Amino acid sequence: ATTISESVSVAPLVEASKPVSKEVTILFGSQTGNAQRLATKAGKTLESNGFQVTVSSMSDFKPNNLKKLQNLLIVASTHGEGEPPDNALSFHEYLHSKRAPKLEELNYAVLSLGDSSYEFFCQTGKEFDERLKELGGKPLTERVDCDLDFDEPASEWIENVLSALGQAGTAASQAQAAGAAVQVASEESIYSRTNPFRAEVLENLNLNGRGSNKETRHLELSLEGSGLTYEPGDSLGIYPENDPELVEQILAEMNWNADEKVTVNKQGEVKTLKDALLTNFEITVLTKPLMEQAAKLSVNQELQELVKPENADKVREYIQGRDLLDLLRDFGPWTATAQEIVSILRKLPARLYSIASSVSANPDEVHLTIGAVRYDSHGRERKGVCSILTAERLQAGDTLPIFIQHNPNFKLPENPETPIIMVGPGTGVAPFRSFMQEREEAGAEGKSWMFFGDQHFVTDFLYQTEWQKWLKDGVLTKMDVAFSRDTNEKVYVQHRMLEQSKELFAWLQEGAAVYICGDEKHMAHDVHQTLITIIEKEGSMGREEAESYLASMQKEKRYQRDVY
Ligand code: 2AM
Repeated sequence: ATTISESVSVAPLVEASKPVSKEVTILFGSQTGNAQRLATKAGKTLESNGFQVTVSSMSDFKPNNLKKLQNLLIVASTHGEGEPPDNALSFHEYLHSKRAPKLEELNYAVLSLGDSSYEFFCQTGKEFDERLKELGGKPLTERVDCDLDFDEPASEWIENVLSALGQAGTAASQAQAAGAAVQVASEESIYSRTNPFRAEVLENLNLNGRGSNKETRHLELSLEGSGLTYEPGDSLGIYPENDPELVEQILAEMNWNADEKVTVNKQGEVKTLKDALLTNFEITVLTKPLMEQAAKLSVNQELQELVKPENADKVREYIQGRDLLDLLRDFGPWTATAQEIVSILRKLPARLYSIASSVSANPDEVHLTIGAVRYDSHGRERKGVCSILTAERLQAGDTLPIFIQHNPNFKLPENPETPIIMVGPGTGVAPFRSFMQEREEAGAEGKSWMFFGDQHFVTDFLYQTEWQKWLKDGVLTKMDVAFSRDTNEKVYVQHRMLEQSKELFAWLQEGAAVYICGDEKHMAHDVHQTLITIIEKEGSMGREEAESYLASMQKEKRYQRDVY
């Protein structure tokens, strides 16, 4: 497989002479919408080349149809500790079970999305690839594992797939498909992830009271003149700037000239070294591929030893909580030039935040709820790039490069009468402020129930007055709060849910949709388990039955998560 750091172009594995069916099925497993967008893009490209394409979420695909497919493309992201996205879970499980059929007639290709700073990089894509091969499928082209900067390798993969499938199209179908593409494009703003809009900061407030352990920023940005719009549940991407102090420390450590000119991308764009370190490159995270490339630029024996395959565990441990400055300090002396060193850095990735406003309540504005990230690690204070830019340096009138990231997997029910249950402790509150604003504007009739939690009632009840108003006006039907550090024993949102299990289950039986936003590893996991416990108890079901009750809710899009 190719990764972006070694962007090798791969030859198609199927000879062009072999007759290939015109039908192609593209299945995506997507949490934040990237894999879905790439699947759609692949679909459009194939269609405009005359293929008959079906693009579908893995959760909407009937596994019985698998045997009938001739060409299958899989686009899947990985999150957490190597886990598939929610909408890939059931298909992933089916495919890995004994029920999965032999697939000797199948041509397939896999595009995986991931983040190489995680141990289980692109794990889900790798698993799909291995399993399809095991079941007899023939790879059309080699799997491509994309790191955060996925546009280019993804386009290459699509090109490889296309040349492997051969040109199937007639001129007429190509013209038709091209027409459709133009129509779609004209509805969209000219601004996108690859062409971000510079949004002006309108407000930037700390939501926490004096004495809080936390700092949560409420950021309001202007979308005026951008043509950008969004729906509740969508996210906003921000291209942040690195901490100027950290950049200064790196320049000083290396004795580099801040004004030296360096090339920052494949297009040959040139900037000063200082600007490049501020805006183009990731300097706060180390990855295994970066360590390996750094070793090639270094004569340091310790580093050579560390990157040997048998020391993989040590590398994993080393990169934890360390940054570029640590790497440069720990493994000198460096003979490599500044250009050589920046060339091995990853592009500074955009940060995604769940949008906290509704555009119908705030035309031309977008609001975010951003938790400031500060912690100590290996003897230095570490700062989250975008959250600390917001907390410490960003002022009204400044601008930020932004884009909208549509998230089709976190959406209010189509029917405004459907009851909703929202679980959003901490900054997980954000999309639910958007939900409430939207339902208020629309005069939606459906019941709603909010579970919020944070450390202290007095300092950390985010958007308290707004919640109280929605309750009073009946926009919000019910609210339960859990302040974990106001009592001797910790109370979390899931404890509040359990206390009201009877009523909560009654809502589920009435067709309520459940939404969870916030910390994935602990909170979302515990809330998930609690939901199963509630269904088990109140529905008099066994554990397995309760699990499949929740799984069907997920299939019906009545259980959606925006977790990080
Ligand atoms: P704590 O920090 O006091 O443990 C928002 O950050 C809130 O989520 C805080 O009150 C935090 O509590 C709480 N929280 C931490 N871990 C949690 C978990 N596993 N489940 C639910 N809430 C959790």
